[in-house]
This record gives sequence, C-alpha cells and structure tokens, in this order.
Amino acid sequence: MSKTLVAYFSATGNTAKLAQTLASVVDGDLHEIQPKQPYTATDLNWHDSKSRSSVEMNDKTFRPEIANKVNDMGKYNTIYIGFPIWWYVAPTVINTFLEQYNAVVGGVPARILRMINVK
Ligand SMILES: Cc1cc2nc3c(=O)[nH]c(=O)nc-3n(C[C@H](O)[C@H](O)[C@H](O)COP(=O)(O)O)c2cc1C
Repeated sequence: MSKTLVAYFSATGNTAKLAQTLASVVDGDLHEIQPKQPYTATDLNWHDSKSRSSVEMNDKTFRPEIANKVNDMGKYNTIYIGFPIWWYVAPTVINTFLEQYNAVVGGVPARILRMINVK
C-alpha cells in the first residue's frame, strides 16, 4: 500500500500550517523536523550578518543537528518536504535531514517526488 510522509521544518509556523493541510489532503503522516537547538527570533534576524541563521547559511557545509527521527522511513514511497526559503534556498537543516536518511535507506533524495517551498 502506498504510504506518504510530509516532513517539514518551520521556524515561525507558516510552513507548519501548510504541511498540516497537505498531510490531510494526501492522507500522509506528518513529521516536524526539529533542530536540536530551536531558532530564536534573534537567530532568525537576516539583517544581522552575525546572527545564527546568517552564519549557518553562509557555510554550505554546515549541518545543524536534528533532535528527532522519522519512525521507519523505509515504509514511505512518497515524501514531501516543506521548508521556508532562507537566503533563496532551503535552510541547512534540510540538508542534515536528507543526508541522515540517505545513509539509512540508500537514497531518500531520489525518492522525493515533491518539494514544497514556502515564502
Ligand atoms: C534567515 C531567513 C532568511 C530568509 N530568506 C528569504 C529569502 O531569501 N526569500 C524569501 O522570499 N523569503 C525569505 N525569508 C522569509 C521566510 O521564507 C518566510 O518568512 C517563511 O514564511 C517562514 O516560514 P516558517 O514560518 O515556516 O519558518 C527568510 C526568512 C529567514 C528567517
């Protein structure tokens, strides 16, 4: 049977709302990607080149740690990933997420059929 996952990261709640709606429409399981260290309003200040998000997004190799895991990623054949746009691209924590499961199920990025981007 087809099984769908909607995984998302949301710092201020916008992506969370859309992900919830999507999960109910596609009848998927909902999973919030939770950074080990949550982002504060100060962290998110893009006007400050020294803020946490600015520093992380300037370093393409940076991988913020994730606090939680998807229970049995291998059972999903469709995975939607939701995230806000940070500096024109996905927040680096999405890279952490993709790489984590690439190691586990041998190619999650190839299994991702849709990505939802939220401005
Ligand atoms: C660090 C940072 C960088 C951002 N960069 C962009 C950007 O390049 N383009 C854009 O349209 N919005 C940008 N935004 C706005 C977010 O994408 C927008 O507020 C989004 O709805 C936040 O989603 P969330 O509530 O799920 O965290 C940025 C926001 C933050 C915090």
